[in-house]
Amino acid sequence: MRRLTLLFALAVTAAFAQAPKAPAAATTQAAHLPDDACTTCHSALDGPLQKPAQLFKDDVHTTAGLSCADCHGGDRTAMDPEGSMSKAKGFIGKPKRADIPALCGKCHSDPGFMRRFRPQQRVDQLELYKTSVHGKKLASGDMNAATCVDCHSVHDIRTVKDANAPTHPLNIPATCGRCHSDAAKMKQYGIPTNQVDEYHTSVHWNAISKKGDLSAPNCVSCHGNHGAKPPDVESVSAVCGSCHVLFAQLYEKSVHQPIFGGGAGKGGCTVCHSNHAIHQPTTAMLTGDKAICSTCHEAGTAGANAASEFAKGLNGLDAALKQSEATLKQAEYYGMEVSSSQLEWNDGHESLIKARLALHSFDTAKVKKEVDAGLAIAAKTKAAAEQALLEKDARRKGLAISALFIAITVAGIWMVIKKMERPA
Ligand code: HEC
Ligand code: HEC
Ligand code: HEC
Ligand code: HEC
Ligand code: HEC
Ligand code: HEC
Ligand code: HEC
Ligand code: HEC
Ligand code: HEC
Repeated sequence: MRRLTLLFALAVTAAFAQAPKAPAAATTQAAHLPDDACTTCHSALDGPLQKPAQLFKDDVHTTAGLSCADCHGGDRTAMDPEGSMSKAKGFIGKPKRADIPALCGKCHSDPGFMRRFRPQQRVDQLELYKTSVHGKKLASGDMNAATCVDCHSVHDIRTVKDANAPTHPLNIPATCGRCHSDAAKMKQYGIPTNQVDEYHTSVHWNAISKKGDLSAPNCVSCHGNHGAKPPDVESVSAVCGSCHVLFAQLYEKSVHQPIFGGGAGKGGCTVCHSNHAIHQPTTAMLTGDKAICSTCHEAGTAGANAASEFAKGLNGLDAALKQSEATLKQAEYYGMEVSSSQLEWNDGHESLIKARLALHSFDTAKVKKEVDAGLAIAAKTKAAAEQALLEKDARRKGLAISALFIAITVAGIWMVIKKMERPA
């Protein structure tokens, strides 16, 4: 097979040698450099030898003016296989898996070189990669671990924000899932393979995929892309606080922090919210069969009492706000002017949000304060709506009375006219 291909390659070379100095670019689709022997010849091959040359036209390295030889070495101007792919010219062939990070790092860790292309380009990927679980595993000889090309692809590497890149937020779960959802591949490590499935049910994936909110976290926002963990957090479980700042501030000072921790391993927010299957929180987390609090706090203890007080407060405020909202809508439907009360209602809703936040202090007084403020607004706006509805009734009564008056007057006039029309 190899021989056949080599023969074919030689035939291609011969054909080129005979061609009357036609520019190579005119004869092959993928040749972008006039003297790039690598792309010219490989475009004419087939299978895995041709594929790189076909893919390479969309590669970010092509756009930067680089070519096959910049990664694989060799002489891009020699049209014969022996000359172009000669070891003497630094040809390395297909790099070994273990050598790939260093190969990419040859340029990507060289600030002088990289900043000629883009002044702000980071040059720490290899250095960080070496500290990651993937990098350490690869260095220890485990070829299952992800290398640069498993996350970035090879020969059609795109800028990381390109919608078709495997590193785009919409594509990252699938990129990681190629290994992490593969039970056979991950078996020897004894770690779960449900991360992608669980993540796909989360509020975060919903925000990214349905609302187009790319600020919500994908796998690498929490785990880091190159490094072992994202910068500035002492553990993955502490990462929630980098976005949900106010929640973390309260939690840090709460009774639970020293118990759940935030240190190595699982802990912190994930004790109650999980890490991958984070769903829209409700008061069902506080009381009922699915309550999380009762897994640690037995009925009658301070913790359990606090949980039911939180649930009562939040449910009560939520119900009061809904009633008030419905009454305001009714008044608005009848054309009554309630816009200032509707604006005020928003403050009540704000109190509900603040109460849910305050819950993270696990201090009943702090939650009660927000709930009471919200209840007062709910009561006030509901009363205003009811007042408006009473006014509407009063106006209707007035309208009915004046309509009656008008009818009587019209009838009177009609009778007078009839009387006048009668022949004297
Ligand atoms: C005239 C045709 C021709 C030219 C020019 C050519 N190649 Fe090849 N290349 C081949 C053929 C044929 C093979 C398969 C031969 C083999 O496996 O021994 C191959 C194999 C390869 C391989 C795979 C080697 C492996 O270990 O599996 C790489 C990588 C490669 N070429 C890169 C390059 C680069 C880079 C250049 C330019 C510097 C280049 N080629 C120039 C024909 C060519
Ligand atoms: C950015 C660096 C880079 C560039 C540029 C590059 N390659 Fe590669 N190439 C690699 C790496 C890394 C591998 C090994 C991939 C792997 O192990 O999965 C590879 C593998 C290959 C293979 C072996 C494929 C196989 O499946 O066995 C061939 C052939 C090849 N490259 C040819 C080319 C040709 C031709 C070009 C130019 C059109 C090119 N490469 C440009 C990095 C590069
Ligand atoms: C586990 C997957 C993964 C591995 C392994 C990986 N990367 Fe990345 N890389 C990413 C993701 C995801 C991004 C985009 C992050 C973002 O959007 O901010 C990225 C971004 C980049 C960027 C753009 C600049 C930057 O730093 O944000 C470069 C360059 C890069 N990677 C090169 C490399 C190199 C070189 C290696 C190997 C040493 C490597 N990557 C290994 C996932 C990976
Ligand atoms: C010969 C030098 C060189 C080598 C080797 C190299 N790159 Fe690059 N790479 C570049 C240059 C130059 C750019 C374009 C920089 C730019 O425009 O931001 C680039 C861009 C990228 C980007 C896009 C970065 C972004 O900001 O979106 C990624 C991803 C990338 N390379 C990954 C790799 C991977 C993976 C390898 C190894 C298989 C590799 N590179 C090998 C020089 C190189
Ligand atoms: C080529 C396969 C492959 C790809 C792709 C891959 N990983 Fe991994 N990953 C592994 C292997 C193998 C391990 C080692 C498992 C172990 O030791 O527990 C690992 C380990 C990890 C760990 C540490 C697990 C632990 O034991 O605590 C995390 C976190 C991780 N990967 C996240 C990611 C993320 C996020 C992505 C996508 C951006 C990704 N991986 C892409 C193969 C891969
Ligand atoms: C909101 C943050 C967050 C997101 C998003 C996230 N993870 Fe995790 N992940 C965690 C936390 C926290 C842990 C547990 C802490 C630890 O063990 O270090 C974890 C653990 C893991 C582990 C170790 C094995 C396990 O299940 O305990 C792997 C592998 C992993 N995540 C992969 C992924 C992949 C793949 C994605 C994307 C589909 C992803 N994670 C998305 C926070 C996140
Ligand atoms: C990169 C930033 C980021 C990180 C890290 C992050 N989140 Fe989020 N989270 C968001 C965004 C953005 C939303 C908003 C989704 C929406 O508006 O629908 C969200 C929504 C939520 C929600 C739903 C409630 C709501 O307000 O819609 C919960 C609960 C949540 N996150 C918990 C967590 C936990 C627990 C962690 C850590 C394991 C975490 N988040 C990590 C950005 C982040
Ligand atoms: C002891 C359990 C527990 C811990 C620990 C915890 N939470 Fe919560 N969290 C809850 C409960 C219960 C709710 C639901 C309140 C409701 O809506 O009824 C909630 C609600 C939320 C919401 C939604 C607020 C809204 O307006 O809908 C976010 C966001 C959130 N938590 C983030 C976090 C973050 C970030 C951390 C860590 C810093 C954390 N939580 C730690 C129990 C917890
Ligand atoms: C993983 C176990 C665990 C979970 C889940 C948990 N707690 Fe706790 N909590 C503790 C421990 C341990 C303490 C400290 C010892 C104690 O007072 O019981 C504590 C203390 C408290 C306290 C202070 C009690 C006091 O004596 O002053 C309150 C209030 C509290 N928790 C509320 C909650 C609420 C509400 C939830 C559910 C949203 C919850 N906890 C979920 C373990 C947990």
